[in-house]
Amino acid sequence: MKSDQEKILILDFGSQYNQLIARRVREIGVYCEVKPFSITLEQIKAFDPIAVILSGGPSSVYDEKSPKIDKEVFSLGIPILGICYGAQLMAYTLGGKVVPADSNDTETSAKTSTGTNREYGRTDTYFDTNSSLFGNISSHSITWMSHGDIVQALPEGFKTTAHSDGCPFAAFEDASKNFYAVQFHPEVSHTEKGKEILKTFIIDLAKAKAQWSMSNYKQEAIDKIRSIVGNKKALLALSGGVDSSVAAALMSQAIGQNLTCVFVDHGLLRLNEGDQVQEIFSKYPVNFIRVNAQEHFLQKLSGVTEPEKKRKIIGEEFIRVFEQEAKKIGAVDFLVQGTIYPDVIESGLGNNAAVIKSHHNVGGLPDYVDFKQIIEPLRYLFKDEVRQLGRQLGLPEYLVNRQPFPGPGLAIRIIGDVTEAKLNILRQADAIFRAEIEAAKVPDASQYFAVLTNTRSVGVMGDGRTYDYTLALRCVTTTDFMTATFTPIPYPVLERISHRIVNQVSGINRIVYDITAKPPATVEWE
Ligand code: XMP
Repeated sequence: MKSDQEKILILDFGSQYNQLIARRVREIGVYCEVKPFSITLEQIKAFDPIAVILSGGPSSVYDEKSPKIDKEVFSLGIPILGICYGAQLMAYTLGGKVVPADSNDTETSAKTSTGTNREYGRTDTYFDTNSSLFGNISSHSITWMSHGDIVQALPEGFKTTAHSDGCPFAAFEDASKNFYAVQFHPEVSHTEKGKEILKTFIIDLAKAKAQWSMSNYKQEAIDKIRSIVGNKKALLALSGGVDSSVAAALMSQAIGQNLTCVFVDHGLLRLNEGDQVQEIFSKYPVNFIRVNAQEHFLQKLSGVTEPEKKRKIIGEEFIRVFEQEAKKIGAVDFLVQGTIYPDVIESGLGNNAAVIKSHHNVGGLPDYVDFKQIIEPLRYLFKDEVRQLGRQLGLPEYLVNRQPFPGPGLAIRIIGDVTEAKLNILRQADAIFRAEIEAAKVPDASQYFAVLTNTRSVGVMGDGRTYDYTLALRCVTTTDFMTATFTPIPYPVLERISHRIVNQVSGINRIVYDITAKPPATVEWE
């Protein structure tokens, strides 16, 4: 990253929404990174941000062990925005008072109809439109609240800029110092004016020029890769998905024939996928090797039912296969992976943020890796940025727009142990499902696949009793894959899919459609 690149620092206090904050900042056109709250003042200075955002988090500031911040951060002379826990932390650190929402100590503040000041969900909020942060929005709109503590007294120099029924200090600021705090979550889409509020903070108050773009990024990334790799050789883990394909195109522009792409067919791919990937990449001017390791992976997964264990095993075996290939090529110093930013954030930043799933590109890495260095050229990019970069690099639209397919493949779409027989059943059913969704042109179907549950039930076929598997269909509508809703597939389409699968795939006698959103579910079942 060039040092003159303007950056915003998001300090992570454990919120599940911190990735969304980063998304919103990037959408506004400013580069940002999420870093653990525990980084030092020196590290913050070295990062050289134009502004800092303090994220939300599950802790209470008056709990001794709760994550705190070096008070000196408030002396850096740059705008700071505190969100939820971040707002409470700002108040607490600068001399205000924070109390549990339902403590007896809150009699000075209004209580909601439930008798406490806790607020969860959509909340009517009233803004002071003369304030610096809310000058561009109207005086009333809905915000998304999720807090068990409230600010009871403001630090000196601050004034209240918004309130709700349960929260007299729903927002406050000391505009003379450029400190702003909101108890609600502006990054969440349910906060009606959230984007406008963040934009005001970033553009008007932090004076960002907002010039973050993929065309600038491409040349910087190529220069950086060249300076790291020099004339040495690199091996890239290619899956044929968007991320590793874009990483391959970027690396090949940077180091040409010193790059070898290794595609491991772990036997957990969808119907005919291995051959398709090979066909696509044989057309590109890159060194391409396909390793057929189906039996090896199945053997390692034999009897394993626990999802995280499956992910770890597959991640580890991937690396071992690459190491073997690297030895054959000889003198390969670098391993390239198509890890993207959501993988990094969802795998936990090494502090309070909960690990949701250890994505195999990151959390599944074994402790010891036999390469001198791992290069992840997309590590700080979100999915839509990766797609934009792919277009900048001249990749075709059908590749750039492929729907995601997880590294651990069908292993995490087969509940329970993974066997060749189950893989065959799932492959056939999944192919029918995907073909029908595409033929019906179901609107807003962002990602769709089948899941083989471990449940068997009784059915009747012809004159005979069956005792076969239940197949679950999953189709979601999403833009960022961090939140998603189920896609309302028309009933006639569902009926046709069900009819075709139970008739054409032996081993399945019941089909169910997954109608849960993310959250509370995730997109994949494991
Ligand atoms: P979840 O299940 O976490 O999935 O809601 C969000 C998106 O990420 C994909 N996914 C993965 N991609 N390696 C990947 O490269 C993985 O281990 C992995 N797990 C989930 C998932 O398909 C969805 O698009």
